[in-house]
Amino acid sequence: MASSSFGSSIVALFITFAVLIGSASAVHLSIRYYNNSCPKLLSMVKDKVDSQLEKKERIGASLLRLFFHDCFVNGCDGSILLDDSANFTGEKNAIPNRNSVRGFHVIDAVKYAVEDVCPGIVSCADILAIVARDSVVFLGGPSWRVKLGRRDSRAASQAAANENLPSPTSNLTELISIFRKFGFTTREMVALSGAHTIGKARCTNFRGRLYNDLDIDDVFAKERRSKCPELQGSGDDNLAPLDIQTTIAFDNSYYINIFMKMGLLHSDQQLFQLQNNGTGGGVSTDSMVVEYMKSQSSFFSYFAKAMVKMGDLYPLTGSSGEIRKNCRVIN
Ligand code: HEM
Ligand SMILES: *[C@@H]1O[C@H](CO)[C@@H](O)[C@H](O)[C@H]1NC(C)=O
Ligand SMILES: *[C@@H]1O[C@H](CO)[C@@H](O)[C@H](O)[C@H]1NC(C)=O
Ligand SMILES: *[C@@H]1O[C@H](CO)[C@@H](O)[C@H](O)[C@H]1NC(C)=O
Ligand SMILES: *[C@@H]1O[C@H](CO)[C@@H](O)[C@H](O)[C@H]1NC(C)=O
Repeated sequence: MASSSFGSSIVALFITFAVLIGSASAVHLSIRYYNNSCPKLLSMVKDKVDSQLEKKERIGASLLRLFFHDCFVNGCDGSILLDDSANFTGEKNAIPNRNSVRGFHVIDAVKYAVEDVCPGIVSCADILAIVARDSVVFLGGPSWRVKLGRRDSRAASQAAANENLPSPTSNLTELISIFRKFGFTTREMVALSGAHTIGKARCTNFRGRLYNDLDIDDVFAKERRSKCPELQGSGDDNLAPLDIQTTIAFDNSYYINIFMKMGLLHSDQQLFQLQNNGTGGGVSTDSMVVEYMKSQSSFFSYFAKAMVKMGDLYPLTGSSGEIRKNCRVIN
């Protein structure tokens, strides 16, 4: 009796503790975090992002991807922005990032402008979060309120980047399980993948799909093969748009593409597999693809909510980490 009540109070204690930890990010991150300390922050960032995207729209895609690749590697802590240093090998050269992640000069420009007005106040991790949202909005996608108050890491982990980021050769089961690890449902994973409505990929990441996959439209495959030769090492860096229809616009055409077997990456096409009789992982994502294809507003609403959720991944708050002066190096 005594031991069982002792047991249950231990359990209660654990639950209380878990609830406290679980809500820690919600307590510290706030859309008003810099209201007093840097009231012009949001408008300053938006101005910078808008002027960069007016020059070159693709950078919007690159900035959105940077935020994703930051958050899935030890949380949204600006770790992806760190250059290699004497103490650690950074994430920029991890397999999913090398010769691929871009947009760092924009983050530098934004940080420089923000430091000028609010020195030592705003983290690089928060700048990434705002810039990702502003990029999506600029390109015609949904908006969301960005929670703020993250601090910057004092280290980066190439190993964690290699381990945690999905690969373009992933199958549906693997995609579901990678995102589940970070608390995302299958439906949220399908919505987040809709980010591939903008931006480009290199031949090396879709060659296998062009030459090995059966669930690919013939005409589409032929066209893409002409700029992505079968021989490994030839044309590896040749680019193709992730969304064949509206390369620049953030819309729901990604889902129409994969419905028509025109997903560029193997991992994209995995979300819609009617051709394979829905054999992927025992969970059919086909119906979700059809829903987002039919309703852009449904896609936008799930995407925006999932982006907020992504921003909640393991932020450093309180006295953890630091506010970097230069996003590329620790203070
Ligand atoms: C579902 C699993 C995912 C896989 C396997 C994946 C993989 C990839 C790959 C291989 C590329 C092309 C990189 C290159 O060739 O250099 C790419 C580009 C991109 N990804 Fe993903 N990705 C995934 C999910 C996401 C998510 C969740 C987001 C954001 C919310 C995202 C945003 C982007 C964007 C915007 C680009 C284009 C970047 C540019 O043009 O610079 N991806 N992704
Ligand atoms: C404070 O934050 C809220 C929520 O983002 C915003 O509506 C309000 O305008 C902000 N106030 C100032 C002074 O920036
Ligand atoms: C490496 O770590 C040491 C000890 O924490 C620190 O003093 C030093 O500044 C770091 N060096 C670099 C290049 O980050
Ligand atoms: C899919 O299912 C149909 C009917 O159930 C069958 O005729 C066809 O061979 C299957 N296709 C594949 C690729 O398994
Ligand atoms: C997905 O990939 C994993 C790892 O390569 C493999 O074990 C699994 O059988 C694959 N699942 C399906 C449904 O193909």
